Amino acid sequence: MSNATAGGPGRLAGNGAVSARAPAKINVHLGVGPLRPDGFHELQTVFLAVSLFDTVTVRPGDGLSLSLHGEGSEAGRGAGSVPTDRGNLVWQAAELLARHAGVRPDAHLRIDKSIPAAAGLAGGSADAAAALVALDALWGTRATRGDLTRLAAELGSDVPFSLLGGVALGTGRGEQLSPVLARRRWDWVLGIAGEGLSTPTVFRELDAMRAAGAVPDGAAEAGTEPVIAALRSGPPSALAAVLGNDLQAPALRLRPELGRALRAATDAGARAALVSGSGPTVAALAEDDAAAVALAAELAGAGVFRTVRAVHGPVHGARLVG
Ligand code: C5P
Repeated sequence: MSNATAGGPGRLAGNGAVSARAPAKINVHLGVGPLRPDGFHELQTVFLAVSLFDTVTVRPGDGLSLSLHGEGSEAGRGAGSVPTDRGNLVWQAAELLARHAGVRPDAHLRIDKSIPAAAGLAGGSADAAAALVALDALWGTRATRGDLTRLAAELGSDVPFSLLGGVALGTGRGEQLSPVLARRRWDWVLGIAGEGLSTPTVFRELDAMRAAGAVPDGAAEAGTEPVIAALRSGPPSALAAVLGNDLQAPALRLRPELGRALRAATDAGARAALVSGSGPTVAALAEDDAAAVALAAELAGAGVFRTVRAVHGPVHGARLVG
């Protein structure tokens, strides 16, 4: 990890605003181990950052305030509704960075969301990572990447990856990362459902299914090695053969219509399809960018998803924009 500052001061726009953006992720492999005494599960996961970004813009303020625009800004969508107070991870990121740096938590925080909430795409984690980078610049805290990564891990298991981006192997509760060099571009179509799923609920359902002997331990059987090898060199058929997610079975149990959504993706020509993270987003692997555009068009007409997005990865993690 380099000691360079993530943003540093001096990038302020005329009105004092600073923006950073961070990507959505998909778990190309998600192996879930046992439940730990701290309430988290031991994970073996391969993260891929994809080209769907949220932007966080921060400007000088008196105390903290937060506004939300885009995806999830309409009220009352169950697990998908995004708080605009201390319950929002961006607010918590601001308080944590201020405490770390010994500065007053003064800022207006604006989130422009494209990543749907409670979708298994780490949208809230992306927002938190973008907020850390933007506020570091606004407040001139000169936090190192190492500092920001430590703060990110305090905020949530996926936040360090939102900061890092690219491709990474995640262990521990998902926050311990080893970057993976994968220069090849991967094209995917994300099929986003209308209603979000709560991550703790999906983990609990997996525990219940395992306790009842309903799923074998480690349904994502391929392990991370073949997934990383396939991600590095391709072809898409090789990656398609080793995709796996232990949270898919419980997500399907909680949301049976996901089975039809997965079938719709493969029927429409996807190389393979899996539930992204804790769901309910379906990530469908395409042969190349042209195939992804065609697949997205087909799936948009299939009537099983609220929104369909063609994306590619790997892309960079949280960084300043503008
Ligand atoms: O770390 P994060 O706040 O995103 O985790 C949300 C919830 O997801 C946790 O409270 C826990 O219930 C579940 N989780 C888990 N094991 C992990 C990561 C998350 O059980 N490795």
